[in-house]
Amino acid sequence: MNRTRCDRTPAWGELQTSFNTSGRAFDLRTAFATDAGRFAAFSQSAPYVFADLSKNLIDSTTQQLLLDLARQTGVEQHRDAMFAGERINSTEQRAVMHCLLRTPPADPAMPTQSVHRHMAETLHEVHITLDAMLAYAQTVRADEAITDVVNIGIGGSDLGPQMAVLALDEFAQPGKRFHFVSNVDGHELAAVLKRLKPESTLFLIASKTFTTIETMTNALSAKRWFEAQGGTDIGRHFAALTTNVAAANAFGISTTFGFWDWVGGRYSMWSAIGLPLAIAIGADGFREFLAGAHEMDEHFRTAPLEQNLPVQLGLLDVWYRNFHGFSSRSIAPYHSALRRLPAYLQQLEMESNGKQVDASGDALPFGTSPVLWGEPGTNGQHAYFQMLHQGTDVVPVEFVAIKKPKHSLAGHHDLLLANVLAQAQALMVGKSDTGGHKNFPGNRPSTFLLLDELTPASLGALIALQEHRVFVSGSLWGINSFDQWGVELGKVLAKDIAPRLASGDAAGLDGSTAGLLALLRA
Ligand code: F6P
Repeated sequence: MNRTRCDRTPAWGELQTSFNTSGRAFDLRTAFATDAGRFAAFSQSAPYVFADLSKNLIDSTTQQLLLDLARQTGVEQHRDAMFAGERINSTEQRAVMHCLLRTPPADPAMPTQSVHRHMAETLHEVHITLDAMLAYAQTVRADEAITDVVNIGIGGSDLGPQMAVLALDEFAQPGKRFHFVSNVDGHELAAVLKRLKPESTLFLIASKTFTTIETMTNALSAKRWFEAQGGTDIGRHFAALTTNVAAANAFGISTTFGFWDWVGGRYSMWSAIGLPLAIAIGADGFREFLAGAHEMDEHFRTAPLEQNLPVQLGLLDVWYRNFHGFSSRSIAPYHSALRRLPAYLQQLEMESNGKQVDASGDALPFGTSPVLWGEPGTNGQHAYFQMLHQGTDVVPVEFVAIKKPKHSLAGHHDLLLANVLAQAQALMVGKSDTGGHKNFPGNRPSTFLLLDELTPASLGALIALQEHRVFVSGSLWGINSFDQWGVELGKVLAKDIAPRLASGDAAGLDGSTAGLLALLRA
C-alpha cells in the first residue's frame, strides 16, 4: 500500500498558494450572492444522511485541490487496505476490521482473492458470535424478572452503547432500565446500586482487555454487592463482553460474548460491546443498526471521491485544521436523544487522531485532531454559542437535525428546526453594528447533517459516517488512527501513586505531586 503524507504531495503546496491568494479571504455571503446553485452544488447525499456543505469556506477550486490531495496521499488505497483486512494498525500489528462486524453473511461484494477468503472465514465467525449475542439479548428481553441492566465499562466499552441506548430510547422495550457505570469514583456505582435488587439485575462487564482498572474495580464491587445482598447465581446475573474470555472466567463469569483484537475499543459497539443496545432495541433493531452502518461502509468503499461524504467531511477537516488553522470543531445535535453524541465523537476523533507523529514515527510539522466538543444545540445556544458567534476564534460547527420527530407535542419540532436553521444562518450572515458589542462578523462555517428520522439504521449510518471521516483525515495526515499510546502513561503513574496514598511515601515524586499527596493524607 502506497501512502504519502499530505504535506509531501504537490496538492499541499497548491492548496497553500490557493489559500494565500483567495482562500483566506473567502466570503460565504459573496459566494451565495454570486452563485444561485451553491446549495445544490455543495450538497451531498449518502445513505440516510443528507449533508449541506454549502456553508463551508470552500469553492470548487479548493474542492478540486482537496480531492487531488486525497488521491495523491493514497487515501483510496489505504481505505481498500482496511477493507481487505491488512494490518494497517502498524504499531500494534493489527488489522482494522470493525466494518466486518456489520457486513451481512456471504456479501456478494466480498472479493474472492486469498486475503478476502481469509476474511470470509472470519465473517462466518462474526455471524456465529452475533447470533449467539442476539439470542441472549432476546432471552433477557423476554425475562420479565430482569428489570435493570447495568453496563460496567469505560471509553469504547461505555460511550458507544450508552450513546446509542439513549438515542434509540423510542425503540426500546418498556420495562427495562439501563444504567452505565464507567467512573471509578465509587459515587457513581453506589448511586446505581442503591436503586437495585440483585434478583432483578443483570450486570454486563464490558471490557475489551478485561484488565482496565476502573472497570475491574467497579466489576469487583458489583460482584461483592450482589453476593452481600444474597445473590448466588452469577451465571444468570453477570455476563462479560470481552476479547479476554479467560480473564472473565477467572473473575468468575461464565456467560461471555467475545470479539477480536482487530476491533478497536472506540469502534466496538458493533460487536458484543453492543449488547446493552441489543437488549434495548431487540435483535431485529440491532440488525437494522448494523445494516445502516453497512450501507454507509459501502458508500465509503465505492462512491467516487467527489460524491463520497466521509471523504468530503474528512477533507474539510484537514482544510480547516491545516490551512485556516481552526483548532476545534463543535458538534450540535438538535435532538435531545443524541445528547451523548458529542462525548462519543470526542473519543472517536481525539483518541484516533490526537497524534504528533506519523505512522513511521516521524514528528508531524502540522496540526492533527481538532478539539471536538458540544452539547445538544438548543442548550448550547443559551450557553457557549455566544463565543461561536462573537468570540475571537472561528469554530466550525456541525449541526445534526432530524426531520421527523417521534412525539406528537404541538409546536415543539418546528421551533427546534427553526432554531437550528437560524443558528446556521446567523453564523454565516452575521449582522453589522457600528457599536461593536452587537456586531456579528458572520462568515463562520457550518455543516448541516440532516436525517429523515432517527432510527436504528440511520443512527448506524451516521456513526459509520463519522468513523470514516476520521479515517480520511487520519489517512491524509499519515498517522495511525487505530492505536492510543497517549492514554498509557497516566495509567502507569496511577499504579505507582495508588500505594503511596496509603503509605505516604513521596520518594522520587515531583514537588507538586508530593505536596498534593501530603494534603490528601493530612
Ligand atoms: O484507556 C483507553 C482505552 O484503552 C480505550 O481505548 C478503550 O476504549 C478503553 O480504554 C476501555 O478499554 P477496555 O475495553 O479494554 O476496558
